[in-house]
Amino acid sequence: MTRYIVEGGRRLVGEISISGAKNSVLPILAATIINNGFSTIMNVPFINDFKIMMKILTMIGCKISRVGDIVTINSKTVDTINIPEDLVREMRSSIILMGAMLSRCGQVKISYPGGCEIGPRPIDLHLKALKQLGVEIKESYGFIECKASKLKGNDILLDYPSVGATENIMLAGVKAEGITVIRNAAKEPEIVDLQNYLNKAGGKIYGAGTSVIKIEGVNELKSVEYTIIPDRIVAGTYMTAAAITNGEIVLKNIETEHIQSIISKLREAGCKIYSNCTALKIVGPKEIQAIESIKTSPYPGYPTDMQAQMMALLTISNGTSLISETVFENRFKHVPELTRMGANITTIDRVAVIKGVKKLTGAKVTAKDLRGGASLVLAGLAAEGTTEIDNIFHTERGYEKLDENLRNLGAIIKKV
Ligand code: EPZ
Repeated sequence: MTRYIVEGGRRLVGEISISGAKNSVLPILAATIINNGFSTIMNVPFINDFKIMMKILTMIGCKISRVGDIVTINSKTVDTINIPEDLVREMRSSIILMGAMLSRCGQVKISYPGGCEIGPRPIDLHLKALKQLGVEIKESYGFIECKASKLKGNDILLDYPSVGATENIMLAGVKAEGITVIRNAAKEPEIVDLQNYLNKAGGKIYGAGTSVIKIEGVNELKSVEYTIIPDRIVAGTYMTAAAITNGEIVLKNIETEHIQSIISKLREAGCKIYSNCTALKIVGPKEIQAIESIKTSPYPGYPTDMQAQMMALLTISNGTSLISETVFENRFKHVPELTRMGANITTIDRVAVIKGVKKLTGAKVTAKDLRGGASLVLAGLAAEGTTEIDNIFHTERGYEKLDENLRNLGAIIKKV
C-alpha cells in the first residue's frame, strides 16, 4: 500500500494557502442535483472524497467538468434513483444524497453506509427526520428505499446536533411544501456554507450557524456559481505541524472565525498566534505545554476532527494532558500507533491520558482513519529518525498534496 516516509526533526517554516473545505464540498455537490441545471463550484479541493462524489454524480447522470479547483456540474440529465452501492460503502457521507435525490426525483435507493473506522455511524436521526417530511422508507437487504410523492415541511427536533442529519433535512426541505424548522440543528460552518449555496440558487433558508434553522420551501432552484469556504480542519492540521516542530508558518486563505477553538488550544500549548480574518502566523513553542483537559464537542466546541492531531502534539508536552472524545465512539485508533513511537498514552473508554515524553522515535506505523493518519504524520515530523506511515489512502481522502505541502515548508517526507 502507498505510504509516507518521514525524517523527523526539521522545523517547518514558510507559507501555505489552505484548500476548500471537504465537509462543505460534499453536501454542496449533493445539492447540485436539485436545481436541474448548472452549478459552478469554486475552491474545490482535489481529494479522494471529492473524486468519489464526482463518480457518484456521473453515474446518476450528471455531466461534470473540472478545471483546477473549479467544478461545473450539469444536473439536467439525472436518470436513475439508484445510488451506486460500492461507492456509498467507500464513502459513508454519501448518505446526504438521500435528501438531494428526494428533492430532485421524489425517490432514492441507497445502500446502508454502514460503520467506518471511527464508529458504527448510525443514521437513525436522518431517517426519523425524513419520515417527518413525508418520506416513506423501506429498509431491506442492506438497502434503504425512500419515496415521497410530496415532501411536506415539518417541525423537527434533532436528539443530537448531527451534521449529516441537519444537511439531509435542509436538502429535502428546500423544495418541500410549506415550512420546515430544524431545532437542535448542527451549527458547523459547513452548514452555513450549504445554506448559502442553496439560497444563492433561490432557496429560502435562515438560521444556519444557530440551533434553529427555518426553511421555506420553494418551487425550484436555479443555476448558480458558488465558492466553498476554506477547510478549518486542514488549517488546524498545518498549524499543529508548526507547533510540533517548533516551526513558524503563515496560513493564507483561511476563515479565522471558524478555528477559534483550535487557536485557543494551540495557545494553551504555548504557541504564539497572530491573525487577521483570512490569514494567520503561528510560532511553535520551544517547550510544548501540557493541556489539562480537551473535550471534543459539536461546533463551536473543540472539533473531534482535530482530536488526533492535538494528541500527537501533546505526546511530547511537558506534563500530563487529558482528552475526552465525546462525539464518536471509537476515535482513538491512532493511540497504539503513537505508542509504537514512544508516546505514553492510557485510554479508558472515551478518555485518553497523555503523559508527555522527552521525544518520540521513528517507527513503522499504520493509518487507521483519516485524521488518525494525519496525527501519525505530525508525530513523524517531530520524531527522532525515520517514520513510515502505511495505508495513507485514509489521509488522502481529506488532504490535498499533504506531502508536497509539508516539503514546501521544509519537511523531509516522501510518498512511496
Ligand atoms: C460529519 O460527519 C463530518 N463528515 C465528520 O468529519 C465530523 O467528524 C462530524 O460531522 C462531526 O463534526 C462530513 O461532514 C462529511 P454527525 P457526520 O452526524 O455527519 C451520531 C472527517 O474527519 N449520530 O454529526 O457523520 C454519530 O454516530 C469526518 O472529516 C447518530 O447517533 O457526523 C456520531 O457519534 C469524520 N445518529 C455523532 O452523532 C445519526 O443519525 C456525530 O455524528 C447521525 C449521527
